[in-house]
Amino acid sequence: MPRPLHPLPPETWPDAREARGSLMFSPLTLPSGLTLNERSWVPAMVPWRASDDGHVTPAILDWYERFAEGQPGVIVVEATGIRDMPSGPLLRIGHDRFLPGLRDLVAAVRRGSGGATRLFIQVIDFLAIKRRPEPARFFERFLALTPAHRQGVAALDPRVDPADDEAVRAALAACDLATLEELLAPREWEDLTMGYRERVTDVHLDHIAMLPSVLPRLFADAAERARLAGFDGVELHYAHAYTMASFLSRRNDRPDGYGQTPDARVRLPLEVLAAVRDRVGPTFTTGIRMLGDEAIDGGGTVADAAHYARCFAAAGVDFLSISRGGKFEDARQPAVGAAAYPYTGASGHACMPTVFDAEAPFGLNLPLAAAIRATIRTDGHETPVVASGGINGFHLAESALKAGHADLIAAARQSLADPDWWTKVREGRGAQVQRCLYTNYCEALDQRHLEVTCQLWDRWAGGEETTPPPMSKDGRRRLTAPRVPWTARTRPS
Ligand SMILES: Cc1cc2nc3c(=O)[nH]c(=O)nc-3n(C[C@H](O)[C@H](O)[C@H](O)COP(=O)(O)O)c2cc1C
Ligand code: SF4
Repeated sequence: MPRPLHPLPPETWPDAREARGSLMFSPLTLPSGLTLNERSWVPAMVPWRASDDGHVTPAILDWYERFAEGQPGVIVVEATGIRDMPSGPLLRIGHDRFLPGLRDLVAAVRRGSGGATRLFIQVIDFLAIKRRPEPARFFERFLALTPAHRQGVAALDPRVDPADDEAVRAALAACDLATLEELLAPREWEDLTMGYRERVTDVHLDHIAMLPSVLPRLFADAAERARLAGFDGVELHYAHAYTMASFLSRRNDRPDGYGQTPDARVRLPLEVLAAVRDRVGPTFTTGIRMLGDEAIDGGGTVADAAHYARCFAAAGVDFLSISRGGKFEDARQPAVGAAAYPYTGASGHACMPTVFDAEAPFGLNLPLAAAIRATIRTDGHETPVVASGGINGFHLAESALKAGHADLIAAARQSLADPDWWTKVREGRGAQVQRCLYTNYCEALDQRHLEVTCQLWDRWAGGEETTPPPMSKDGRRRLTAPRVPWTARTRPS
């Protein structure tokens, strides 16, 4: 592992009195009328624990109940698919048959938090992505031959008959990479070297052209199911690499009134929000997770995000949760047989910053939340703004709240490292917090679609528990954070 470039900032934790009087641990009422006990927030994190057909499993219940024991103000359940179609072990909400499991999940969080934590579910749509193909199979089966391919290989080798498909495919398969990059169209080259990936701009495909007419209903159905399952609200996933963020992207040049200009790009996201609102009413919390900066070449910046935030606030969204990056456009090339993963390039590091990056991760994305919040406040909207990204200390969180940079503080990896950290800080036991190291062991597991765990759980656990904890499929890692007093533990070298 490389050497961390940034040490964890030292923290002087508040005593119980200071914590009690802090903004961090004061309540907040959302525009929907829902009151949160405090400003602490566990944002969505996919743990790779759903069943292969998208149902809640006992491991999911354990995962969320453990977070709930720390009694944060809010937990947002992982990105959950709104369609009724297979998507591997990702949680789904696209049919009523998912309701019983989702009700159990709500019950687990109520039980774990003693009713203190509000529970939202993040609802997502995503487009097809395929694994990077074996070159031989790509040329044999997947590539649709065009006149350019035929003429290209015939120009390279006059013995190849351009009308003979088999000969053209074989000639292409025999070319070196530099020649192929010349012969293939940019999208074909990408299909070969990264794997096929649909885009919202592929309007020549019927199902992509139809997205504006199908997505509002699908999101509204999902939100209604969330309400029926007993959640306190939904978070519409308009961030990172997925369908709705791609509509908002500055790279969206759809010609049908849903791309090319900022107002056209925000049109479908607003239509989805309106459809959800119509279905679930004004008192069911409906928030949005969006990007404050796409962090890719030619992508949107905080100015675009502020414009969108303005539109969402005017449309009555209940909160805006600000993230950054996490795009496919700059993802690292996957191995043959693997799919591209949107958190591997520079934009991925912007989303889940580490101590190995040039910039220190601590509070890295707060300026985006601050700028967006300032813009919507100028318009007179009180919409709460959630900040995330490298927040693992009380003073960083509290100073952001006091400065008006955010209204709510989300901590994903810090809550993973120590789900009790909110309680420890609230009770003046901050010195016992196991602080996230921001080395992204957890994210590497996510990348390989393995059950997400934290490296700290195994290092510090052992001895105190009377029953052995459930372990990962490889038998090597515990699946939930230990329930042990951390006090006596010292940091391993
Ligand atoms: C394992 C893992 C899974 C994640 N899954 C999601 C997700 O489903 N939806 C989402 O919006 N963000 C997801 N994120 C991003 C986090 O919500 C958060 O924005 C990011 O980790 C930065 O916050 P942090 O520095 O507090 O970890 C995930 C992060 C991790 C580490
Ligand atoms: S594995 Fe644990 S310590 Fe490491 S980045 Fe993830 S949450 Fe933090």
